[in-house]
Amino acid sequence: MAVEPKNVTVPWVAGAPERGDRLVMVTAYDFPQGRAADAAGVDIVLVGDSLAMVVLGHPDTLSVTMDEMIHHTKAVRRGVKRALLVADMPYGSFHLGTEHTVANAVRFVKEAGAQGVKIEGHRPDMVAALTHAEVPVMAHLGLTPQSVHRLGGFKVQGRNDAARQYILEAAEAAERAGAFSLVLECVPTDLAAEVTRHLSIPTIGIGAGAGCVGQVLVYHDLLGMEERIAPRFVRRYAELGLLSREAIERYADDVRAGRFPAPEESYGGGVVKPVEEPAKLYG
Ligand code: KIV
Repeated sequence: MAVEPKNVTVPWVAGAPERGDRLVMVTAYDFPQGRAADAAGVDIVLVGDSLAMVVLGHPDTLSVTMDEMIHHTKAVRRGVKRALLVADMPYGSFHLGTEHTVANAVRFVKEAGAQGVKIEGHRPDMVAALTHAEVPVMAHLGLTPQSVHRLGGFKVQGRNDAARQYILEAAEAAERAGAFSLVLECVPTDLAAEVTRHLSIPTIGIGAGAGCVGQVLVYHDLLGMEERIAPRFVRRYAELGLLSREAIERYADDVRAGRFPAPEESYGGGVVKPVEEPAKLYG
């Protein structure tokens, strides 16, 4: 599949609405996932702080650290050649002042090779400081999972007039502060479309309907690897969780029945018959 451009850049992403392009973003957390997403021709790979939930098994995103995010971003970097690589600023990494925020974002660029960072919430001051420090920023409004305690759960946002107005104004402030794109998570379709019409930077939706410029899904949701939660907005394009379990069960059956490894999967001269009973190994 030939996908333009050869290398995705921040200005190319920012120019998507003007060109009338739809953007494709997916999360990834390690080298093979980054490589698969890149080979599939997505435009943006996000190392999301959803790492905490879908990879590290935490109940929410709050506990993932800068060091963990850096470690995984480095791995994804090795797999991504064409797509734009964006790293998610984890909870606590941009809440303690501008200097601390910029220092953390610079780590993503210098140590891990990220080309931009994403920050959650209405934080035009931080967006401006990061942009000033040459770190491109993807803003994130609507359901911001790092606000789970304040919001009282993972709930659709922007359902009443005041909440709609807040999101619209925060989106405009993010653009004015220099954000090159905006993730809108779990907001009504008409609100996402209205925000999209008001901005010149692209909106990238997750649970925000079809009126956004782009869409993002979490790798493990898209491929059916996350079985604990199934939000309404997820479309599963594969059932890799089920496939993996079935494959490992077949492997376990083969080992237990002495069918694995076969001679062609073994080295050396002569055929060794598999042991009939594991106990015989020990006499
Ligand atoms: O962490 C994440 O995966 C995200 C996406 C859902 C946008 O923030």
